[in-house]
Amino acid sequence: RYRHTAAAMIHAATTSGNVDTTAEVRIVPTTPIPDMRPGTSGLRKKVEVWQGEHYLENFVQSLIDTAVEKEGKTLDTIIIAGDGRYHNSQAIPIIAHLAAANGIRHIWIPQFGIMSTPAVSAAIRRRRRSEDEEDGRGGGGRDGEGIAQGGIVLTASHNPGGPGEDFGIKYNEGLGQPAGEDFTEALYQKTLTISSYKTLSNIVDIDLSAPVGTQYTLTPTSTVTIIDPYRNYLDALKSCFDFDQLRKFGQRKGFSMVFDGMHGAGGIFAKRVLVEELGLPESSLMRCNPLPDFGKCHPDPNLTYASELVKKMGLLPDGSADESIPSSSLPTLGAANDGDGDRNLIAGAGFFVTPSDSMALICDNWESIPQFASRGGLKGVARSMPSSAALDVVASARNIPCFVTPTGWKFFGNLMSSKEMFGGEDYTPFLCGEESFGTGSDHVREKDGLWAVLAWMSILAKANEGNVAEGTLVGVKDIVQNHWEKYGRHFYCRYDYEGVDSNAANKVMDFIRESFVNGDASSMEIGESGIKLTNAVEFSYTDPVDGSKTSKQGLILNFELPSGDPARVVFRLSGTGSAGATIRMYLEQYEKDSTKHGMSAPVALRGLAEEALRLVKMEEKTGRDSPTVIT
Ligand code: G6P
Ligand code: ZN
Repeated sequence: RYRHTAAAMIHAATTSGNVDTTAEVRIVPTTPIPDMRPGTSGLRKKVEVWQGEHYLENFVQSLIDTAVEKEGKTLDTIIIAGDGRYHNSQAIPIIAHLAAANGIRHIWIPQFGIMSTPAVSAAIRRRRRSEDEEDGRGGGGRDGEGIAQGGIVLTASHNPGGPGEDFGIKYNEGLGQPAGEDFTEALYQKTLTISSYKTLSNIVDIDLSAPVGTQYTLTPTSTVTIIDPYRNYLDALKSCFDFDQLRKFGQRKGFSMVFDGMHGAGGIFAKRVLVEELGLPESSLMRCNPLPDFGKCHPDPNLTYASELVKKMGLLPDGSADESIPSSSLPTLGAANDGDGDRNLIAGAGFFVTPSDSMALICDNWESIPQFASRGGLKGVARSMPSSAALDVVASARNIPCFVTPTGWKFFGNLMSSKEMFGGEDYTPFLCGEESFGTGSDHVREKDGLWAVLAWMSILAKANEGNVAEGTLVGVKDIVQNHWEKYGRHFYCRYDYEGVDSNAANKVMDFIRESFVNGDASSMEIGESGIKLTNAVEFSYTDPVDGSKTSKQGLILNFELPSGDPARVVFRLSGTGSAGATIRMYLEQYEKDSTKHGMSAPVALRGLAEEALRLVKMEEKTGRDSPTVIT
């Protein structure tokens, strides 16, 4: 990759303690490459695009420059880690050399280069430089208790990996949170004007499989340290849950679990936590070895892509129970993570829990989770706008402030770190989540797949405390059904139209905006279904913490069902794709009557879906008569 022979060489004099040292920084001329604007969560492109000349370097140099500008000084310490996908191990050393050439003194890389996204967030928040020594041999000579100013995270999350598939990079800032819109926009502007990047003339061979604690000197003042990927994350989880209680519960007769790592980064953390810490048998794990192409699977934990797990849990692809399988023969808890271990799918025996319901359930059961119970309960909750209102109903009943944000995890971080609203950083017991299989809390500043699994295990453990009958357990299904009885059920599902021509996708959105948001929605004629469109709005958000405004975050169509109950359909374009456009249609319908709660969601929502598709002329405008995926 280092073939830039025409590069100018300069000698940069730097000072380390009292000794003047000289490092050979190489300035490589480059020209701007278009189309590098990061999406909802970093820049995602096909691997081959990233492998193009100067592509990775241009982006990373712009990223470092943006971070330096924001910090007001050279960065001192950063983490570089990825989800293990194809190109991960090639890109990490290149980025390390750029970082060193830019004067970053301490560069932390996890062993094998792999860390889940929540683990990176935990390490940014918690890791102290003194751990360089404690982590193993090498180390030494480090001053102070410095922590990282940020992390460069190599992931395209739930997008497939391998040749011809996606690679991505995002930046997480000092509190461990994904960089906000101001940062990514400034980064993008830099990619449009970049004229050179810095790397080193001497390339050091960094062995990512070297023992923890191994150090590589890149320049007299910049060192790479191979760090333990687990340590800080494990500490973070231990601060949330009672591991002794979970270990005991895991041994209960009748309890069993299946965890599907989808060959992503979450798998090694699941093994460490579920098997090594909590004592569950190895047979609880499936696909927990990270692979560069995720074993050719689409590492997104939903009913479609986690089909093997879904089957093991006695479920049909639409999320309903396969009645031919007795639930007593099924695992008590089933879970899956995505490529970078921040998403989660939760299921019980013959029972799928929607992400929106999962959030509402965790909220209502905060007493079962030590992280919240020991700090006086939840001080705030938040959900993304397209997620269902199941959380709002619980929050209002339990007097917890509830926020509705645009899609994208970065919006939650601002809320939970706010001193003004909640007293700040470490004082905000906070729960948040998204319909896109993301759940998390204030222990890190990312969603956390494994955290959700332990939260559910804690809820199950508590629910079974008084229940001593041999081999019988209160299950996920019992817990959720009781919840619906108390609060009503929000039927929910999502239709995805993937790979739609971008123009056609924009036309659908423009049409909805013009006809229903700007037009008079309520004058629309009522179709055969009897479902009536009452009004339409386009969601925009003003951040209550920093006042920043985000607009065009989804088109909401509000309906009234023939029963008089409300229903809602949201249209939004995905911000995480790498080619073409994906239209998402989110369907939600509230049902108070518990005799109707047993229906499967896609069946309950079919009428609403048909009505919405008819109104927005989906087939006419996109040529699609059915979605690519229903989750
Ligand atoms: C990433 C973000 C999530 C967000 C999701 C939306 O996973 O981390 O916070 O919900 O993207 O994806 P979409 O494709 O709907 O824009
Ligand atoms: Zn992810």
